Parts: sequence; C-alpha cells; structure tokens
Amino acid sequence: MPEQRKYPDVMDKLVSLAKRRGYIFQSSEIYGGTGSVWDYGPLGVELKRNIKDRWWNSMVRSRDDIEGLDAAILMHPRVWEASGHVAGFTDPLVDCRQCKKRFRADDPKIKGTPGTPDVTCPACGNKGTLSAPRLFNLMFRTFMGPVEESASVIYLRPETAQGIYVNFLNVQQSTRQKVPFGIAQIGKAFRNEITPGNFIFRTREFEQMEMQFFVKPGTDMQWFEYWKAERMKWHQALGLAADRLEFHQHTKEELAHYARAAFDVQFDFGGTLGFQEIEGVHNRGDFDLTQHQTFSGKKLEYFDQPNNERFLPYVIETSVGCDRTTLAVLVNGYREESVEGESEGRVVLGIHPSIAPIKAAIFPLTKKDGQPEMARRIEIDLRAKFPVDYDETGSIGKRYRRQDEVGTPFCITVDSDSTTDGTVTVRDRDTLKQDRVAADKLAGFLFERLGA
Ligand code: GAP
Repeated sequence: MPEQRKYPDVMDKLVSLAKRRGYIFQSSEIYGGTGSVWDYGPLGVELKRNIKDRWWNSMVRSRDDIEGLDAAILMHPRVWEASGHVAGFTDPLVDCRQCKKRFRADDPKIKGTPGTPDVTCPACGNKGTLSAPRLFNLMFRTFMGPVEESASVIYLRPETAQGIYVNFLNVQQSTRQKVPFGIAQIGKAFRNEITPGNFIFRTREFEQMEMQFFVKPGTDMQWFEYWKAERMKWHQALGLAADRLEFHQHTKEELAHYARAAFDVQFDFGGTLGFQEIEGVHNRGDFDLTQHQTFSGKKLEYFDQPNNERFLPYVIETSVGCDRTTLAVLVNGYREESVEGESEGRVVLGIHPSIAPIKAAIFPLTKKDGQPEMARRIEIDLRAKFPVDYDETGSIGKRYRRQDEVGTPFCITVDSDSTTDGTVTVRDRDTLKQDRVAADKLAGFLFERLGA
C-alpha cells in the first residue's frame, strides 16, 4: 500500500477555481494555449503583487543594509558565458526519429537505453528510434538588432541574479553601502523547461524574487545560517503551515556549479507532488564576482577603507519563485468544509488577510429601504483604503460562498437595523463569527484584523 499523504492533491480543483474566479488563465487560450505559460487574471495579479510587496518590504524597505534594483532582462551575451549558463545550463535530451517527440534522458517512462536498438519510445512505442542523449540548453535565444547572425545572439535571462552581480559596484559606490550588505530585485526569468507542469509550479516564463548578500570571506557560513532562518520565518509569516515547510540540504551531487552550500525551502504541495522547492538559499562564495571580473576585465573588488584592504566579497543568495510561492499560498489555503445547518458545503481559500486580493465585500441584505445606498457609501469609504467588492445579487448565502471561494477575509452586511442604528454585521471568513460594528468604525476594525 502506498503511504497515505496527510495533504490531498488539490491541483485540478485549484486550476478550475483559478480560471472560474479570475485568478489564473492559460496563456493564449483561444489559440489552444501556450505550453506552460500562464496569465494572471484580476484576482491573481493582486495576490501576486501582494506577495511581491511583502517580500520587497521585508527585504528592502524595512532594512538599511539591502538596496533595491531593477536590472534589464536582456544582458550582454558574455554575462551568460561568465555565469556558466552557456556551457552548463543544460538538460540531457533524447529525440524519437519516428514521432519527433523529445524526452529528458532520465525520463522513467523510457524503457531501455537511448541510442541502442532495445529502447522503446514512450510516445509512439517504436523500438530503437530514440537517439543517444544530447545536451540541450535551457536558455531562450533571440537576436538583437536587424541581423539574425551568431554575432547578434542574445538570451532571455534564466535568473535575475546576474543583473545584480554586474551592478555590484554601481550600487555599492552610489549608495556608499559597506560590506556586509545586499541587493534585491524582483523580475521575470525564462527557462525553456523540458518537463514543465503542475500548473504554475514549473513554467517557461516566471518571476523570481532574489537577494544577493555580499559578505567578507570567512563570515559567509554565519550569514548563510542567518538567511536560512530569516527566509523560513518569512514563509511562515505568509501563512504557510509550519508542518508543510521544511529545509532540504543539497548533497555534493546536487550542488550547483557555483554553490559551496545550499538549502532549499520546501513546501508540501500534497498528493504525489509532496515536498518541493519553493526557495533556494545558496552560499555562492566569490564564484560570480570572480567570473565577471575575469570575463569583463574590470576589477570588482570591494575596498574596505578602515582596514585598507581590497577583496572580492562572498555572496549569500536567497532566491524564491514568485509564481511558485503564489501556488503554495493557494494550495495551503484551499479547503472544503461542511457548514452546520446547511446542506451545501463551502470552498474556502484561507489565504492570509494581508495578501488577499479583496479585503472585504459589502452586501445590502435587500435591495430596498435604503440598504443599497448605505452599502454603497461604505464601499466608497473603504475602497479608498483597500480593495473591496460590492455585491447585491443572489441570496446572502450565495454571496458569502462567492467571497469564501476567492479568499475574502470579511463580509459586511447592511440590514434593516443598519439604516436606523448605523451598525453593520461583519462576518469572519474562517471562524464564521459575526460582529456588530458601527459603520463609522469599520475601517479601524478591519485594519486591526487584516494584519501586516
Ligand atoms: N539564482 C539562483 C536560481 O535561479 P533556482 O533554484 O534555479 O536558483 C530559484 O531558482 C527559484 O526560482 C526556485 O526555488 C523556484 O521557486 C523558482 N523557479 C525556478 N525555475 C522555475 C520555473 N521553471 N518555474 C517557476 N519557478 C521557477
């Protein structure tokens, strides 16, 4: 019997909810879709933006030792030679001569040894048609300028980190930061993944939130431990359940070419997917600055004035996928519940109130007796402070269900008493508790509960 996992697989239900309620759509759907590329709808874009804001606030705005950066996606092609991506960012692939399908060489569906007559193609079932493994680079290539020739090849960046390394001295000198200090950025990255999938878990276009912390050699492992702990705290504060988070230490075989030490923060996505990486914390030593110094011919040393010494700092990197964190938040929050006294259950997206796309929904109980007018006044007042929704269609139960399903933490109902005593009912998404609150005290009441 396979081990029963604690958390169920909710991916198919989430994909359907995400489309139905405007969180996430498949890219270019009306043309049949673009493989493993997704578009964020009205609610998805808010959720993802809130996650990015939380990261930016904790990394950049609340600290005096980390600076922000927004480097371009297109970089000088030599950057990717220096970083090791041109030579080493590859997957071994095999091709079927018959059906033209491509597979990773280590795909468990392949029976036999690729390149020999005994191998069977997992797609068309022909024998001996799979080629020997060939290395396939995961970077997207295009051309800069009007001429399509090898001299004008340029890449879409596969990680944001390199934009930080090449700007290390620009940022340090313009801000007069002293080592140890960090540079953070959020931006798109592109990888021509061969085995993408699981919704927005592994996609070909995605966003990273990366921070490179420059430290004096010898203090690197201390900072590595510090950042490991900080990043785990951040994921927990985002509302991800503590028992769904764990560290995975990279073995010698798993370590990337640049890393001296690496831990992944893993999240339990449930079902057979289980624990998977959402963030990497890496000690990259002086690999990147050394490489860029060599390839560019420009000195990238830091001058430590008080000690009158020059050195290449070591780098501790924290690299978290924005889309993957968004997926973790959705999976973590999704639940189906029965409701006492009701035949129909409810679906709830129990996401942290601080990142919920809509903070409160306002309903008039009926469409008469001045209730819609009062509800609209409340809506206008609250909308100036945070995103809200107004809904007067369908039964109150149906309106609650709609908001539960998109993760709105509070529903405010204007009823017949409201128009005489100026109070409204505030219903909490998770506890279902209802409080009677004076309409003019609503903003303060909600702010207190929305949290940071
Ligand atoms: N600069 C280091 C770096 O890029 P990585 O482990 O390759 O390290 C960091 O990527 C994070 O970026 C991962 O933990 C994951 O969250 C996200 N990521 C990487 N590839 C991705 C993909 N194809 N789709 C979605 N997210 C991805």
